[in-house]
Amino acid sequence: MKTHPLDALAQQLVAPDHGILAADESSGTIEKRFRAVGVPCTEVSRRDYRELLFSSPGIDQHLSGVILYEETLGQTGRSGRRLVQMLEDRGILPGIKVDRGVKALPGHPEESVTEGLDGLRERLSAYREQGARFTKWRAVIAVDEQRPSAPALRANAEALAHYAKLVQEAGMVPIVEPEVLMEGSHDLDRCRTVTTAALDHLFSSLKAYGVRLEALILKPNMVVPGKQSDRPATVEAVAEATVETLTRTVPAAVPGVAFLSGGQSPEEATRHLNAINLVAARLPWRLTFSFSRALQEPPLRAWAGKDGQVREAQSLFSHRVRLNGLASMGRYHPDLEKVT
Ligand code: 13P
Repeated sequence: MKTHPLDALAQQLVAPDHGILAADESSGTIEKRFRAVGVPCTEVSRRDYRELLFSSPGIDQHLSGVILYEETLGQTGRSGRRLVQMLEDRGILPGIKVDRGVKALPGHPEESVTEGLDGLRERLSAYREQGARFTKWRAVIAVDEQRPSAPALRANAEALAHYAKLVQEAGMVPIVEPEVLMEGSHDLDRCRTVTTAALDHLFSSLKAYGVRLEALILKPNMVVPGKQSDRPATVEAVAEATVETLTRTVPAAVPGVAFLSGGQSPEEATRHLNAINLVAARLPWRLTFSFSRALQEPPLRAWAGKDGQVREAQSLFSHRVRLNGLASMGRYHPDLEKVT
């Protein structure tokens, strides 16, 4: 069977031992993260922070790709090299977040739909020229007793499918991210039900738009109780619910699933990813990470804008990347947390 060129790229993104760093926080989001550690948010501080991450030792052993924000795609580091070039030189694929964020869903003001399809075809060809090889679009699904509504699931799935088709036509691999939020008091079962519905809607839209399943990466939430739930779940229960949800909804043609961390602590996200891979010995897809907060919290806190802290921050970041690389193979153990 002839392999489609994009299939190989998608497989590279989820290669064994490897996962993805999401460093695509919009300027508003990174401002919040910087403020929490007392760092002024400027174009230069954002650039310095991302250069710190991308030049950390050893990360190329476990990162196949980095998702960038538009601004970073055009930035040159203190080293005089473009940040995109720094990644490419290390064999790490540069990707780009292409959605324009969420807006209230008409008729359902408590829910959202992700925007950014207008002019997307033209933006994609410019991103491709700047070096992007893959892309990301995030849909946000809120949960409570009434939500999500059917229109919210439908509108977000349609937008994801429309986006994914355009991206494949532009010669890049789309990451499709339907994020069921952790905010709320819902339990594990409710998250399982909603995630199942979101993935069912997504894959039926992807098929309707003729999106090539072999050339995309799914970026879902893990199936976890809401942050305010009074019914916590064990690591094993999360792993089993997550794997069961995926087996019921995700076609075997999809090469890989790269989870978001969604507000879990770094250790929690790694423990869950490891347990998922232990349940999942014979599944058709690779199961790995595409974390932002769960990879970046330790280095951001250690750096806090200080040049003298760059090495310490890099070592914490490299350590987190390595632990998640191990977890993506079911080879993580909490004792490894102590060894840096
Ligand atoms: P978190 O891992 O912090 O949830 O971020 C992943 C992401 O890229 C959200 O779009």
